[in-house]
Amino acid sequence: MHWVIVGDLLQKIEQPSIHGCEVGVETGRTSAYLLRRYENLYLHMVDPYRRSPPYMATGDPTAAKTQEEFNSQFLEAVIAVEFAGHRKYFHRIPSSEAVKEFTKDELDFVFIDANHGYEHVLKDCLGWWEVVRRGGLLIGHDYGNDGSWTRGVKPAWDEFAKQAGVKLKSAERYVVWTQKP
Ligand SMILES: C[S@@+](CC[C@H](N)C(=O)[O-])C[C@H]1O[C@@H](n2cnc3c(N)ncnc32)[C@H](O)[C@@H]1O
Repeated sequence: MHWVIVGDLLQKIEQPSIHGCEVGVETGRTSAYLLRRYENLYLHMVDPYRRSPPYMATGDPTAAKTQEEFNSQFLEAVIAVEFAGHRKYFHRIPSSEAVKEFTKDELDFVFIDANHGYEHVLKDCLGWWEVVRRGGLLIGHDYGNDGSWTRGVKPAWDEFAKQAGVKLKSAERYVVWTQKP
C-alpha cells in the first residue's frame, strides 16, 4: 500500500532522529505504519476532522461524512498511534493554519494527502515546501490516480514543480516526491 512506499522513501533521511508531518491523516494508518517502522520518527499529524464545504466541493468520497463520522475517525487515529507516546503530535486544524506553526527548513519530510482540490494541493505544496529542510522530502499521494481529484492533484503538483523549479519523481501507488536541493 502507499504507506509502505512512503516508508521506503524515508530511508533517504539519514539522521539520528527523523522529524516529519503527515497532512491529511484520516484513520492514522499511514502515521501508525511510519511510527512503527521508524522508532526514531517524531511525527506531526495534521487533520481538522471537520465536515467542510471546501473539502466536500472536491467530490472526494472521504469528504462526504457526518461530523460524528469525522469524530470517530479522529478517535481511531488517536488509538492507532497511541503506542508512539510522545513521538506523535496531533494538530486538529486545517493545513493552512497548521503550516504557520512551523518554521522554515524545520522538518525532514512532509507527506501531503489532504484536500485533493487543485488550489488546496498547490497551496499545500508551496506552503509546506518552505517547512522542509534542504535535503528533505516533500511527498504526496494520488498523483496520476483517477478519481474526483484527477483535475486537482497531478496538475497542482506539476504547477508546484514549475514554480519551485524542481523535478518530481513518481513512485508506485501514486506516490510523488521531490527532494529539496
Ligand atoms: C485521503 S484522506 C487521508 C488518508 C491518509 N493520508 C492515509 O494515508 O491513510 C484525506 C484527509 O484529509 C483531511 N483534510 C481535508 N481537508 C484538510 C485540510 N484543509 N487540512 C488537513 N487535512 C484535511 C480529511 O479530513 C481526511 O481525513
